[in-house]
Amino acid sequence: ARLAILLSGRGSNMVALVQAVQRGGLHGLAEVAVVFSNKPDAPGLDTAMALGCPIDCLDSQGRKRAEYDAEVVSILTGYVPDYIVLAGYMRVLSPTFVRAFAGRILNIHPADTHLHQGLHAYEWAFNNRLPETKITVHLVDEGLDTGPVLAQQSVDLRGADTLAEVERRGLAVEHQLYAETLARLLRGDLPTLAGAPAALDSTT
Ligand code: GRF
Repeated sequence: ARLAILLSGRGSNMVALVQAVQRGGLHGLAEVAVVFSNKPDAPGLDTAMALGCPIDCLDSQGRKRAEYDAEVVSILTGYVPDYIVLAGYMRVLSPTFVRAFAGRILNIHPADTHLHQGLHAYEWAFNNRLPETKITVHLVDEGLDTGPVLAQQSVDLRGADTLAEVERRGLAVEHQLYAETLARLLRGDLPTLAGAPAALDSTT
C-alpha cells in the first residue's frame, strides 16, 4: 500500500513509520509515496528527505481551508496514495478532503478520543494528574478526533511528574502503536472495534 504521510512539525511519528517501512513491521506491506507538509519550514520535512522519502509541501499560511484543501487533495492524488496517514498534521480537514479519501485517512491522537479531542492532550493528562492515558489510532471522519477507533494502548503515567516525562512515555507508545496498527490494517487482521468495520469495508 502507498502511504502519504502528512505532518506540520517535528515528525517523530513519521520517522517511526518510515523506519517500520524500511526495516520494521511495515516492510513489504507499505511504501512511502510522499511526506507532505502544510509548513515549508517543518523540521519533519528535512528529516523525511534525509531518510530518502519523496517530500512535497504547500504553505497553508493565510489560505482559506476549503480552497487550500482542494489543492492539497489534487497534489496528494498525484502520488496515488492508498492511505493518508496524519502524523502531527495540525489542520482540521475540510469535508472535501475527508470525502476525497473517505475511510482511508488515519490519525494518531495522544489521548482517548472519547475523553479528549483537539490540542494539548498531554497537558490535559498531566494537569489532571491522570494515572494513565490512552494513545488512539483512528480513522478520520468530518469531526475533530471523532472517527472510528482502530487501536488504543494505555500509557502508565504514575510517577510521571513533569509534562516532558508524560510526553516521553506517550511518544514511545505512539511510535510503536501507529506502525503496528497500520500493519494490522494492511494485513486485514484488525480485531472488530466499535464503528470500524463499516468504514473499513468501504475501502475494500
Ligand atoms: C503527536 O503527539 C501526535 O499524537 C499528535 O501530534 C504529535 C506529533 O508529534 N497528533 P510528531 O510531529 O510526530 O513528533
